[in-house]
Formats: sequence, structure tokens, C-alpha cells
Amino acid sequence: MYKTLAKPAFFAIDPERAHDLMRAAGRIANNRPVSRLLRSFYDVWDSRLAVHVGGLSFPNPVGLAAGLDKQAELVGLMTGLGFGHLELGTVTAQPQPGNPKPRIFRLAADNALINRMGFPSGGADALKIRLQRIRRTFPALPPIGINIGKSKATEIDQAIDDYCYSFKLLSPLADYVAVNVSSPNTQGLRQLQEKDRLKALLLALRDANTHRRPIWVKVAPDLTWSALEEVIECCLEAGCTGIVATNTTLGREGLVTVIDQAGGLSGAPLRQKSLEVVRFIGARLSGRLGLIGVGGISTADDVLAMLSAGASLVQVYTALVYEGPALVKHLNQGLLAFMEQRGCRSVQEAALAWGEERRVA
Ligand SMILES: Cc1cc2nc3c(=O)[nH]c(=O)nc-3n(C[C@H](O)[C@H](O)[C@H](O)COP(=O)(O)O)c2cc1C
Repeated sequence: MYKTLAKPAFFAIDPERAHDLMRAAGRIANNRPVSRLLRSFYDVWDSRLAVHVGGLSFPNPVGLAAGLDKQAELVGLMTGLGFGHLELGTVTAQPQPGNPKPRIFRLAADNALINRMGFPSGGADALKIRLQRIRRTFPALPPIGINIGKSKATEIDQAIDDYCYSFKLLSPLADYVAVNVSSPNTQGLRQLQEKDRLKALLLALRDANTHRRPIWVKVAPDLTWSALEEVIECCLEAGCTGIVATNTTLGREGLVTVIDQAGGLSGAPLRQKSLEVVRFIGARLSGRLGLIGVGGISTADDVLAMLSAGASLVQVYTALVYEGPALVKHLNQGLLAFMEQRGCRSVQEAALAWGEERRVA
């Protein structure tokens, strides 16, 4: 029904306006009865899908990637759609409008998006108030991550204080915190992936982590392998819990659509790149840190490829726009179908079996 009715209507209007409509709908679902009703349609509950990583238990491996629910307005709706975790944000310490519109572009022939949102954010203080309300309204949520970024007005050399402000305010309300140093739309942000800057930032967050929340670091797909090795080293030294790979790419390889818009590319054209980054990180970590794979996932096969490359969990964003609200259900049902056929008792076993079949083939 989404593809025949809702999608054509959404795709006939400006992407950000469509997103605003979805947010309005999400606000209606932001209560327990509606969220529970949605779950009865969309949630796939099966203990074989459960994943334990970084000190948390996830009911299934498919999470919502950061950026879709920046201000925690859609928690009821997204929980209703069956996500196994939600990464909210990116939120910045200071409220800010983000970049001028238009700033999201559909590349329908590529199943992709380009965005240069620039962290529009109500600010960390406003998010804190909303999260307090959400925790009261929904006592039993899947793990909630809060993704934090740098305020535009803050100079790169003052970034640590800016991140620490959001971290101290929001980490008590989060199950984990993701440190975003990889969005391409805030000037200078990606410099924070450089070894010395990243180490200083992560050590400061470790010292600020009085509530002992798991800290994950979100990386770009455009780093060189040696730069990625440095990121891994920093994360290990600072005692981080894991790495989220990847954010959107500045690359434009393999696009069918002719488009000249600045911003980060997401969706199908990013899939292979993100998968290679996850495989590279997974091989070097050998289980010392957690790994979340994100980028272009739209089928259960894509999920299994990410898990087989070393991820414990995955996240989706762009495919939700193209595939609609049943996406998470289809991904989890697809995983279960694969597990049934191969007699796998866990998601990890399924990832091993999937990898083994590809090696033999
Ligand atoms: C419109 C849009 C906004 C995004 N905003 C954020 C953000 O605020 N913070 C962040 O870490 N990632 C953000 N992302 C990146 C996604 O979280 C994800 O890493 C990326 O889109 C790749 O996944 P996908 O191909 O499934 O979309 C955004 C992506 C899109 C499409």
C-alpha cells in the first residue's frame, strides 16, 4: 500500500515537506496505545533475533539511523515499526536552524538521497526535556542512542567543550551515546576524525562519562584505510564501546541520476562502500569493539552481508523512504526465513552461515 498510494503522494512533494508530514503523523503516534497498535502490525518478535552487544540487549539487529528523528518526536512511531534500537539526533549543544532549504534531494532512479541538512537542532536542553517526557510515556523502549554533534557557531578548537555539554546533559537519559565526527555538512567536523583531535575528544568524553554510558563513534566512508586504523586505535585507547560505520559519502560514483548538489549521498549507491569499511574495521577489531553497519541497506541479504562483514547490528534510513513502514518487518522476517532454512539459532550463526555460503559459491 505504501508503494502504490503513500509513496507517489510523498514523492510528488518536496522531500523535506514530506518529512515534515511524516513528523506530524509521528506526533499522533507518540502515545502508548497507537505505538502498541502499530507494533501489533509491524513488530517481529522472536528471541532468535536478539543481539547482546556493548552491555545492551537489542530485541532485533535492525536500528533506526541518526538523522531521521533528530528531536525525539517519532519515538512512539518508530518503536511501533519494530526497530530494535533508535539512534536519535544529531543534536547540537546550541539550537540552530541548519543549512538553507532546499537541503534534501531524491535520486529516485538510484534509490538514494543527497542531504546537506547541517544539523538543524532544537539544542541539547530542549531534547533533554523531550526525552524526560518520553521516558515517562514509554517505560519499555528498545535501546535509545543519542547522537551528538558540534554546533555550527563553535570553532573546531572549542569542539570538546561543545560535545561535553551535550554529553553531560543527555547521556543520563540515553542507553548509549554516538559521537558524530563524520557528517559532511558542518564545516570542519570531519577534521575531528584526525588522530590527535579525536583522541582528545574521546578522552574528554570518557572523563565526563560519570553515568558509564557506552560511547560509539560514527565514522565517514571517505576515510583512507590508514586514517581508519587511527580511528580504531583512538577508540580502543579511550575505552569506547564501538564504531558506527558509516555516515553519508561525498563520493558520487555509479549514479544514474545527473545531479549537481553538494551534500552527503546515502542509500543504494553507498552500500558497497559502507560494507567495505565495515569489513575493514571488523577484521582489525576482532571483537575488541562493537560495530554497527549502516549504508544502503534495504534487504535481508544486505543485513546479512553487513553482519557477516563483522557488524553486530545494522541501521537504516534511506530505504525507509523508498520501501516504507514495513521495511523493518521485512528485514527481520527475511532474517528469520534464512535462519529457519539453515537451522540457525541466532543472528550470529546466520551471519556465519551466510558468509560460508558466499565463500563456497
Ligand atoms: C536526510 C538525512 C539526514 C541525516 N542526518 C544525520 C545526522 O543528523 N547525523 C548522523 O550521524 N547521520 C545522519 N544521516 C546519515 C544516516 O544516519 C546514515 O548514516 C546514512 O544515511 C547511511 O544510511 P542509509 O543509506 O541507510 O541512509 C542522515 C542521512 C540522511 C539521508
